[in-house]
Amino acid sequence: MTKVITVKEDSKVLKEAAEKLAAGGLVAFPTETVYGLGANALNETAVANIFVAKGRPQDNPLIVHISDREMLEKVVRSIPERAERLMEAFWPGPLTMIFEKSEMVPITVTAGLNTVAVRMPSHPVALSLIQKSGVPVAAPSANLSGSPSTTRAEHVIADLSGKVDYIIDGGACQVGLESTVLDLTGEVPQILRPGGIGIEALQSVLGEVRYEPALKDSRQVPKSPGMKYRHYAPKAELFLVEASDRELIEQHLADYRQKGRKSGVLSCGGHYEADILLDCGQSAEDYARNLFDMLRKMDELGADVILAELPKDSGGIVPALKNRLLKAAGGQVLSQYVETKTERI
Ligand code: TXA
Ligand code: MG
Repeated sequence: MTKVITVKEDSKVLKEAAEKLAAGGLVAFPTETVYGLGANALNETAVANIFVAKGRPQDNPLIVHISDREMLEKVVRSIPERAERLMEAFWPGPLTMIFEKSEMVPITVTAGLNTVAVRMPSHPVALSLIQKSGVPVAAPSANLSGSPSTTRAEHVIADLSGKVDYIIDGGACQVGLESTVLDLTGEVPQILRPGGIGIEALQSVLGEVRYEPALKDSRQVPKSPGMKYRHYAPKAELFLVEASDRELIEQHLADYRQKGRKSGVLSCGGHYEADILLDCGQSAEDYARNLFDMLRKMDELGADVILAELPKDSGGIVPALKNRLLKAAGGQVLSQYVETKTERI
């Protein structure tokens, strides 16, 4: 039985959920990025249950969520000076850092790696839940593996009801895309997954920061195990289009109409004759915040095929937004040209 609860961070019912979490249960909770599916990171059986509930591949490691520095010191072997500076600038917040792991972290969490991904979320309910549980919390995004991540409690209920002990409803997530995953174990810090903190912000603290090569070139094997899987995909077929290719979008919509396929468009402002038209909002931040909700909505409304406009601007959250769109679409970009002209990030 899954209990769905709505709480303020100081309420008694949150304490109950935190106790269940510490004792080996599964608790889905809001963070500023997406909802997480949490288990006591020090309890191997509980962690194994996350993989079962999500249908997650065993070789994909989890992020360990902490609420204070003491917890960080427990789960890592050492804290490099670069990490200190990043913590100062971006924690609590949507940045995950890769450290060498301590003996305490079971290899079920790290999928056999000797490194561990750690993040201190800024959402008050998340922080309070971790603090009240008193243990580091391993948590992937709270969706079925392969589906769009969850940014509202309704999404979590749809994917995980009956499979977890508690779902904490904290409303809509603010960022809407997952944290940036940054590897600090090499000479030059590398972004393994673009996310809530942009590369420019990281560079302003660290100097040199690079994207991991596989993010730009799909022929390379990604360093972050999770990046190799198809992800975030709606049930409908999804194609991406440059926002300026209005004619191309209209041509495709006419074709779908003729074939009797129910069409949807994620539009950055323009009006289209589609069966379902969803507006991506005024900015890339709006688009990011609503992306997973819009993909889920398209499925609920029965779209057969979705055309999503790529964001026009660059920088900040845009590389993360493009990364999720490209993954969700399995790389399918419609273009007037044979070669796609879309930058991967
Ligand atoms: O915003 C987020 O990061 C959310 C919320 C819940 O905090 N969590 C999240 O977790 O997105 P998940 O499991 O969906 O994605 C974790 C990513 C995966 O791509 C995984 O491969 C990578 O982090 N990762 C975890 N541990 C790693 C490690 N030791 N080395 C390299 N990549 C790692
Ligand atoms: Mg995920």
